[in-house]
Amino acid sequence: MAKGLQAIRGMNDILPADIAYWQYVEEVLRQVVDSYGYHEIRFPIVEQTQLFARTIGEVTDIVEKEMYTFEDRNGDSLTLRPEGTAGCSRAGIEHGLLYNQIQRLWYMGPMFRHERPQKGRYRQFHQFGAESYGLNGPDIDVEHILLAARFWQALGIMDQVTLQINSLGTSEDRARYHKDLVAYFEQHQDKLDGDSKRRLYINPLRILDSKNPEMQSINEGAPKLLDYLSDDAKFHFEKFMLLLDHHGIQYEVNPRLVRGLDYYCLTVYEWVTESLGAQNTVCAGGRYDGLVEKLGGKPTPAVGFALGLERLIELVKAQQEVVLTPDVYLVLVGDAAERRGQELAEDLRDQLPGTVILSNCGGGNFKAQLKRADKSGAEIALIIGDDEVEKEVVAVKYLRAERPQEHVAIEQLAEFLNEQSLG
Ligand code: HAM
Repeated sequence: MAKGLQAIRGMNDILPADIAYWQYVEEVLRQVVDSYGYHEIRFPIVEQTQLFARTIGEVTDIVEKEMYTFEDRNGDSLTLRPEGTAGCSRAGIEHGLLYNQIQRLWYMGPMFRHERPQKGRYRQFHQFGAESYGLNGPDIDVEHILLAARFWQALGIMDQVTLQINSLGTSEDRARYHKDLVAYFEQHQDKLDGDSKRRLYINPLRILDSKNPEMQSINEGAPKLLDYLSDDAKFHFEKFMLLLDHHGIQYEVNPRLVRGLDYYCLTVYEWVTESLGAQNTVCAGGRYDGLVEKLGGKPTPAVGFALGLERLIELVKAQQEVVLTPDVYLVLVGDAAERRGQELAEDLRDQLPGTVILSNCGGGNFKAQLKRADKSGAEIALIIGDDEVEKEVVAVKYLRAERPQEHVAIEQLAEFLNEQSLG
């Protein structure tokens, strides 16, 4: 291939062999959110840069280092969405969906972050997200956990994931905490890396989120936000945990869990796995009660989560095989059979919606066509030659079962195939 015409590093093609997994997982996710009464929302992939800077936070890895930001032809600064919460909330405000209303929304699509690519971490990746507005929780927080647990159950990966939770308190709680956190880091100034020094006074909470292993021990010793929770925040967190207990959801309180985006308050959580290596968070979210107001809307409580489809699909792949194969392959030998066969394929598609029928194209002798039929993965080959056209029958060859070949009248073929419980 000519140089320069490869896909961009960290941006993957999803090829037909993999698509079966994507379609299967997407379908399961859709069915589950549908069963909770959530509605899909679609918002643009490109937004004004300010939207992300204001919501995710100026002093975060995403906004400082990872956004795909460019000037368009009008000189406006635009950014490829690095996540969905900002765009979803912007759309909700702009279209009057949030004021004095309850909304349960979901979305799915590509997100973009200029991170260092590695297994499970890409520059274009896909998220499935859910956002609920107008509810204070913690019942709705728990609904999101139950919903995600149902995803894992339906996909057969419940034993691959564990839930970690924490509370980030109210903004007042965090303000009190900041003071002590800054004082703690000031005592260890000499051990802070460059990023942490820079963030010390503007966003000290982000130091705790550092991916630098050398910052680990210093972060371990830092004061814990959980010790600064007000009564209200404590009550919310305790009720959240009580409800999780009530529903038999297992979790671990992780006081170091701060999330990498600034908009969170109160409940935060991550579903993590030990099966994926370093990129071990499959799904993450929490409350963001202040965000809608910050974007110019009326104060609106909100909570949401997003899961990384690439990571989820990796987990599903390790558990089960999903393949897309046709049910029936039509082997058509000779001009008359080609004509009659294509016509028959159309009739069968009318009569058997949902059955996948692959009709041989491009000729080939009987042997070559049968080989294609076998390679396609079809259950059954329907063979038509001059003789069959004349007698209005097809020869049925079972490609995956030890059953003798038989002849079926074309007139009865749809009914016959229906009885084979294909698909
Ligand atoms: P996040 O933790 O930044 O949260 O991303 C959510 C999930 O997206 C991660 O747990 C991971 O599975 C996946 N993910 C993130 N970055 C990458 C990447 N570079 N490559 C592959 N997968 C990735 C959010 O985005 C929030 N908007 C979640 C949320 C919704 N909070 C409230 N509502």
